[in-house]
Amino acid sequence: MRDDLLPVLACPACAEPLGRVDGGQVGCANGHRFDEAKQGHLTLLPAKRRALTADTPEMVDARLRFLGRGHYAPVERALAAVVAAAVAPGIVLDVGSGPGTYLAHALRAADGRRGVALDLSAVAIRRAARAHERAGAVVGDVTERLPVVDGSAAVLLDVFAPRNQTEYARVLHPDGVLAVVTPRTGHLAELAEATITVDPEKERRLHDSLTPAFVLRSSEDLTWTMDLSAEDVHDVVHMGPSHHHVDPDVVFESATVTAAVTVSTWTPAR
Ligand SMILES: C[S@@+](CC[C@H](N)C(=O)[O-])C[C@H]1O[C@@H](n2cnc3c(N)ncnc32)[C@H](O)[C@@H]1O
Ligand SMILES: [Zn+2]
Repeated sequence: MRDDLLPVLACPACAEPLGRVDGGQVGCANGHRFDEAKQGHLTLLPAKRRALTADTPEMVDARLRFLGRGHYAPVERALAAVVAAAVAPGIVLDVGSGPGTYLAHALRAADGRRGVALDLSAVAIRRAARAHERAGAVVGDVTERLPVVDGSAAVLLDVFAPRNQTEYARVLHPDGVLAVVTPRTGHLAELAEATITVDPEKERRLHDSLTPAFVLRSSEDLTWTMDLSAEDVHDVVHMGPSHHHVDPDVVFESATVTAAVTVSTWTPAR
């Protein structure tokens, strides 16, 4: 973990900022200590651990391959534009980051800004630790108090990931912006048999999940067509929750597939 990122990270036991302590370990002023993994990330989970719902290695590898082929480039560009336009001081925090693909794109578009990827999956965070030289990576749980100092994020990214409005409002700078990507009805429709269909109430649920702490600032629907090889179809099915439900014997074929997502931006309510 980069030393200059430690002061924006908070101890999961007592919420004090982290720093380097004697012997080069990471810790807080109250004596709590955290080991860095050899890949460079930190695990900052509260002591009482929940049943883990994190992505598996197969899912993370499928996601890295699929996103690495640029199929979701419109999302990468939209998020990079939000980060490039950000005015508040602070980091880019990618919650439910997976392997950190979107964070890396965003940091490339934002001169000198630093970032933190946070995900419950240690496998994903190991990949995210290498996503960008200005990024740190943390195993953490979005349903708990986030291990991030109050007001320290200029931009918070949440791409197809669980949300926590109270914690997002706490860690965002008052002039900060939250960017959320959610699937719309029709997303991956051609693969409906193999993937989980999008809940038609998703838009209302998005709104309910972020108000009253946030105010909607913008909402853009992005729709594009992807020419997917059989391997791409395999990967897009296995990189998400459908991984747990798909028949392991199914043979995938190439397909032309619709992507339909909403990119919305939100600001903290005053
Ligand atoms: C559909 S993936 C999206 C990953 C990434 N944002 C992307 O679009 O490539 C959802 C991510 O949320 C993570 N996740 C699930 N529950 C979580 C929790 N309670 N806290 C933090 N991350 C969680 C999963 O491990 C997974 O990486
Ligand atoms: Zn502490």
